[in-house]
Amino acid sequence: MLRQLTLLAPALGLAAAACTQALLREATERYLAVQSSGNASWLQPFLTNNATYIENGKTIAGWTSTSTLTTFSLRIDRSHSIFDLTQCAAFTDLIVTDAANPRAIGAQITVDPSSGKVSKIDRIATTTGDWLFNATGTLYYALREDWGEIPLEKRDSRAVIKAAADAYLDIFKNASVVVPWGSPCARLEGGAYTGRGLPTDTCNVGVIQSYDMPNRRYVIDETVGVVSVLLEFGSIGNAPDSHLFRVEGGKLRFIHTLTYCEKKPNCGYTIPSGAQPPTRM
Ligand SMILES: *[C@@H]1O[C@H](CO)[C@@H](O)[C@H](O)[C@H]1NC(C)=O
Ligand SMILES: *[C@@H]1O[C@H](CO)[C@@H](O)[C@H](O)[C@H]1NC(C)=O
Ligand SMILES: *[C@@H]1O[C@H](CO)[C@@H](O)[C@H](O)[C@H]1NC(C)=O
Ligand SMILES: *[C@@H]1O[C@H](CO)[C@@H](O)[C@H](O)[C@H]1NC(C)=O
Repeated sequence: MLRQLTLLAPALGLAAAACTQALLREATERYLAVQSSGNASWLQPFLTNNATYIENGKTIAGWTSTSTLTTFSLRIDRSHSIFDLTQCAAFTDLIVTDAANPRAIGAQITVDPSSGKVSKIDRIATTTGDWLFNATGTLYYALREDWGEIPLEKRDSRAVIKAAADAYLDIFKNASVVVPWGSPCARLEGGAYTGRGLPTDTCNVGVIQSYDMPNRRYVIDETVGVVSVLLEFGSIGNAPDSHLFRVEGGKLRFIHTLTYCEKKPNCGYTIPSGAQPPTRM
């Protein structure tokens, strides 16, 4: 009985000896509850006193007392989370197709294991006018892909997963970098998809050179071969950006991007109508 109560009790807010998936899972669930209810109280008591909140690359001061995180509720159609026990951080992305308020938001959530509280939320929040934004498209393509658990014997190390992501980001600056392209591989940029469901689908369709992709922040989950990288997208004016990579056998299999455009629409770029998804990112 006592044991059951312990398991049912919230983990967040309790000092923990080590980071656990339960702790990270509860943090993402509370964050999602805030987003769907529009009520910051679901998370507020579980934030450290000096918790940092970064939205589209800007640090928001004083947010814990003013509930800057949200002022309205979102009708979330899908959320997807990964858990990094080494860094005690999660990444969760959510998609809202609600025509009145469409969104695609990716958040890295860091938990301080010693207090068991959320110490940082760093996120990219996109809506109409952001890079190739189309929430219906994002939902449609994201649900076609398998981002499930990878059997233990086939898992890549954190270093291999991170190296695959870094190689991809590095070719924007240096075309000689060798990228472990998987085959097939598909890119979902905003709501635009490069894949056609063919075994020959490739992610090697070109990038805009030659730019640095600086300020990379990583969350890595080896159990699913996924790394989230938040960064500044050099080739489109250092736009605040989220890249999510699925790596299988050391090779890139899926890449999802969210890019915030301060200068809407589409960061000032014109995409020809009916054009294939970009060859620029
Ligand atoms: C917000 O959530 C808290 C629980 O954390 C609840 O007590 C409160 O009534 C909620 N407020 C509204 C306006 O729903
Ligand atoms: C928050 O406070 C803790 C404990 O005082 C400290 O270790 C940490 O560096 C602070 N974090 C920030 C972002 O200021
Ligand atoms: C958004 O994506 C959906 C699904 O792929 C597609 O049917 C629709 O035409 C797209 N909308 C725009 C404005 O491109
Ligand atoms: C570009 O990448 C290649 C292959 O990794 C490397 O040998 C070379 O030093 C890099 N060039 C620069 C300028 O970093």
